Formats: sequence, C-alpha cells, structure tokens
Amino acid sequence: MSESFQALLSELEQFGQENDAAITDRPRRMLNITRDTGEFLLVLIMATNARRVLEIGTSNGYSTLWLGQAASKIGGHVTTIEQSEFKLELAANNFERSGLAEFITQRQGEARGHLESMSDASFDLVFLDSKRSEYVQWWPTLKRVLRKGGLLVVDNATSHTSEMAPFMALVSADADFTTCTVPVGNGQFLATRGAR
Ligand SMILES: C[S@@+](CC[C@H](N)C(=O)[O-])C[C@H]1O[C@@H](n2cnc3c(N)ncnc32)[C@H](O)[C@@H]1O
Repeated sequence: MSESFQALLSELEQFGQENDAAITDRPRRMLNITRDTGEFLLVLIMATNARRVLEIGTSNGYSTLWLGQAASKIGGHVTTIEQSEFKLELAANNFERSGLAEFITQRQGEARGHLESMSDASFDLVFLDSKRSEYVQWWPTLKRVLRKGGLLVVDNATSHTSEMAPFMALVSADADFTTCTVPVGNGQFLATRGAR
C-alpha cells in the first residue's frame, strides 16, 4: 500500500471517530468498519480471488477503499450502494483522492431496488454493512446474486447480536450455506454458498 493511501485511511479513521463522537444524528454519522475489518476484507478478497464485489452501505467510503484496494490488486471491481446523497458525495471525493475510483462503481438509492435489478450469480463476494433490520427481507435476493462458492460477509455480528440474530439464524439454517462468525472488529458473520 502506498504511503498516500495509508495517509488517507488514517485521515478518514480520525475523521470518522471525531465526527461520530460529536454528532448524534445517525444519518450524519460515518459508522465506519474498524481497520482490522478492512485488513480482513483485503486478505479475503485477494485469497479467494473475488473479482466481483458488492457492498451495501458505502457511507463515506472507508470500507469501500479497502475493497477497492483489493480489487485493484486482482483486476476486480466493486459496486457499492448508498442511499444518502450526502455520504455518496463524500465517498466519491475519497475515491478520487485514493486513485481507486476506476475500480469502484457507486449506486445511489435504497439497496433493495438495486439488488432486485442485479443478475443471478453476479457477485463473488458481498459485504453487508447497512440497515440490519432489512437483511432478512433482502436475503432471497442476496442469495440469488451471490454465485455458488461465493462469500457473504456481514459486519456487526458480535456488536449487535440481537439485531443480527434473525438474519444469522436464517442463513445458518439454509442448506446451501456454510457459516461462521469471526471476532474481527465488530464481529464478521461469514456465509459461503456451497453444498454442505
Ligand atoms: C454502517 S454505515 C456503512 C459504513 C461503511 N461500510 C464503512 O465502513 O465505511 C451504513 C450505511 O448504510 C446506509 N444505508 C442504510 N440503509 C440503507 C438502505 N436501505 N439502502 C442503501 N443504503 C442504506 C446508511 O446511509 C449508512 O451510510
């Protein structure tokens, strides 16, 4: 990773912490993943050669920069969905600054509509860091767009256990998926699509 990219990540980490400590209005909080979650995603994508990545919940693009960094190393591409126009613009600026914009496509709006417009098996890895109460409703479509052998990674598995429980139970009960939870950052729930 270049020094300028490291500096941008550090700047965004500081911005996120200071912003979120000062602001109580949730739509204006950045709610970024932790650095070790970013490192984990980078390694996962590179190790599994996940070239087609979908993220739901861009915020100002901190997590997307990790995904984009991985994509740039393996000839991949990231599609990221965010409903807030304010955050979408912050993210676009960060992508330009990082030099990774060519590896990232931003989609603005409610995730469900975007998901429904996407083709079957069109992603190798899906990273979910959005509105947790929606995940159960999104599941049939998430499942449809993830290719066989693909990987779903969901943040906040251990930081928000009661909110995540219905979704984790649903996926874990699906015979097409094998799951685990790893103690990285706020807890990552992993589900891979393949026969048990
Ligand atoms: C936890 S933040 C994402 C943080 C980001 N992944 C990061 O680590 O930098 C969740 C984001 O999901 C967005 N969001 C919530 N519900 C959404 C929905 N239904 N469709 C699209 N975006 C949504 C919010 O606006 C918010 O920016």
